[in-house]
Amino acid sequence: MDYKIIAANWKSHKTIQDASNWLNEFNALIQNKKIDDNKIIVIFASFTLLDFVSRFIKDKNLKIYLGSQDISQFEEGAYTGEINGKQIKELATNVLIGHSEVREYLKQTDEELKNKTKQAIISKLEIIYCVSSITQIIPDGIEILAYEPLSAIGSGKPDNPSDANQICSDLRSKNLNIKYSLYGGSVTPNNVTNFISQKFIDGVLVGKESLNPQIFYQIIKNA
Ligand code: PGA
Repeated sequence: MDYKIIAANWKSHKTIQDASNWLNEFNALIQNKKIDDNKIIVIFASFTLLDFVSRFIKDKNLKIYLGSQDISQFEEGAYTGEINGKQIKELATNVLIGHSEVREYLKQTDEELKNKTKQAIISKLEIIYCVSSITQIIPDGIEILAYEPLSAIGSGKPDNPSDANQICSDLRSKNLNIKYSLYGGSVTPNNVTNFISQKFIDGVLVGKESLNPQIFYQIIKNA
């Protein structure tokens, strides 16, 4: 099947109450009009939301995957403040690694991101690994990539779809293990079709426009 991955990155947004409202509204939309079988929906939520969201998904039997936005580079142990792969795996199936905001604000290095990737693989978490250019290092074992040019993230200025397609194609020819490449950066219901119709763009990673369930649903519909 020709899968399309549509991922929401909620970033540091939403309380449990907000997430509950979002999920109830989104659930009503998808019960009313089903999502195509080839569309894979992933929500990357804050650690504090994972328990609530995973229970909601299970209770309502929804075909939505859940991911964390980070993972400890260490295994279980004396690492105060860290959340390890085993803990995430209890609640989620996916993890986002290397987003430009953790590189910029948390100063996560390529070495740390490599260790995080290793821990995610040990815990059998499906990784979406973010890069913002063709030259960034991609650790071994990565199969899903999200290309997010810095100028497009949160700016309302998306990349040109054919340029993004070219970079995704180049990234894949440099990294033959990559099975899916996504685009991220100011994706909206209006531009998603132009991105997803590109040969080497198998999905989208959506920040701002995923915060509203109606808009996110529209993006999924148009994808
Ligand atoms: P944006 O964020 O859709 O708000 O540009 C995308 C991202 O940072 O993953």
